Amino acid sequence: MKIIESVSAMQAFAYKTRRQGHTIGFVPTMGALHEGHASLVHRARLENDVVVVSIFVNPLQFGPKEDFRKYPRTAARDLALLKAEKADVVFVPTVQSMYPAGFATRIRVPSLDAILEGASRPGHFQGVATVVLKLFNMVQPTRAYFGEKDYQQVRVIRRMIDDLNCSVRLVACPTVREPDGLAISSRNRYLSKKEREEAVKIHQVLFLGRELVSEKIMLDSRQLIRRLSQILAKIPGSKIDYIEVVDPETLEPMQKIRRPAILAAAVRIGKTRLIDNIIIS
Ligand code: PAF
Repeated sequence: MKIIESVSAMQAFAYKTRRQGHTIGFVPTMGALHEGHASLVHRARLENDVVVVSIFVNPLQFGPKEDFRKYPRTAARDLALLKAEKADVVFVPTVQSMYPAGFATRIRVPSLDAILEGASRPGHFQGVATVVLKLFNMVQPTRAYFGEKDYQQVRVIRRMIDDLNCSVRLVACPTVREPDGLAISSRNRYLSKKEREEAVKIHQVLFLGRELVSEKIMLDSRQLIRRLSQILAKIPGSKIDYIEVVDPETLEPMQKIRRPAILAAAVRIGKTRLIDNIIIS
């Protein structure tokens, strides 16, 4: 497994690989890798000649009060996981090389980036879209792999790819869960033992919501959200950022629930903010 640190070396490798007629599967990450990332690398390995994984904790997508500084950095474990998944290249650019002095350009996907996560985390998706487009330009992937746990991120990047004619195919992969249903996330490690036990209720509530809609027991989203919020509010130390039923394409809230729909939630438990979603198909 090759480790590339410089942007020019990454571009040269990508150019040579594509010129040889090989496909590149790309998994962008911020490190702190877990089984969710492993599943993306695994899929990329199956579908491409060469697999590139980037590890870059992107300062542009963190708000001033967010966890950029304390975001987990676990380089040795990450490399071991990537080696086990048979990645070919790990790209680890520095902040200085990604955002040199004078860097000014930002990519925005208006409307999609201002709701749900975007409303709670202003500027977040601008940071994501900007870094992902830069990484695409460096890695020149044939396919790029993203997890559906970050459903809105998938929508924002898909829109950007279509709008800017990026020659990459986005592959959205299912959320990987712990045996009890909690969506696997790098931030789960912030949870205390007690909080971890409570955190599973987020998935349980989404699952219940899907049942209530599928069984046509509740098709009015306000009524459904009120019911689910009451359950979430009982988690000790919890604060609901949002729980909404939205259109899978536009992410606009739905009043009367039609299918398919996405039921998405962001909940703080203590100091940890967790997101999850479920597709009501
Ligand atoms: O999903 C993530 O880990 C990040 O948002 C991404 C796509 C690597 C961009 O920094």
